[in-house]
Amino acid sequence: MRTKIIAGNWKMNKTVQEGIVLIEEILKSAGKLQHENLQIILAPPFPLLGMASALTSDYRFISISAQNCYYKNNGAFTGEVSPAMIKSTGANHVIIGHSERRMYFHEDNSLLSEKIKVALQNGLTPVYCCGETLSERNEASDYDIIKNQLEETIFSLDEEEIIKIVIAYEPVWAIGTGVNATPEQAQEMHRFIRTQVALKFKDDIAEKIPILYGGSVKPENAYSLFSCTDIDGGLIGGASLNSNDFVAIINS
Ligand code: PGA
Repeated sequence: MRTKIIAGNWKMNKTVQEGIVLIEEILKSAGKLQHENLQIILAPPFPLLGMASALTSDYRFISISAQNCYYKNNGAFTGEVSPAMIKSTGANHVIIGHSERRMYFHEDNSLLSEKIKVALQNGLTPVYCCGETLSERNEASDYDIIKNQLEETIFSLDEEEIIKIVIAYEPVWAIGTGVNATPEQAQEMHRFIRTQVALKFKDDIAEKIPILYGGSVKPENAYSLFSCTDIDGGLIGGASLNSNDFVAIINS
């Protein structure tokens, strides 16, 4: 049975003080959140990583994630943060390839591929995001886009590396819009992604890789999405900023 994962992507929200309040609220429910086979990931902004790791260090089912990283370990790259630095805060994961990074910061598959490799070398688990835009879906090129986003990044990994990856399918048209993919639409794409992994690697590798759904997940739609065979949890944006909503989604 694959581990279920609920990850909260805080994006550029919360100061250190606000982050402490949110984490403490989530931890109040921690006793009720601990399920066998469930992992919770919190992805606050860089300046909050050390604090978040320290506050959650007693909770083995909670991991901390960065939202991005650079593809070099150190050097004269003003303003960038390396995977080694992220790891040193106590964080274990890093989101790579979020559509906001692709869109606003022009990150392409070749750069993302470098980031994934360096993150893995530093012991971070990449949460690799893929997803099509609305026009790509309307033009029926969504499957080609996703295939390409996989082929040009994580499909260059070897078997030992791919098994460490978490994939997040996040249709761009569903992110922050309030319009989620229906469970049927999401399941279909998750099945497609798993099949591509099986074709490139092996069936048993594909069966082990967690594939999360992201895009307007809310307490009201979480259960129907997470009940789908190939959906192993969610990457939650807006609803992860409110402890009641986030805890309700975890309990789904
Ligand atoms: P959303 O964001 O839940 O606010 O739609 C998801 C994400 O961008 O990871």
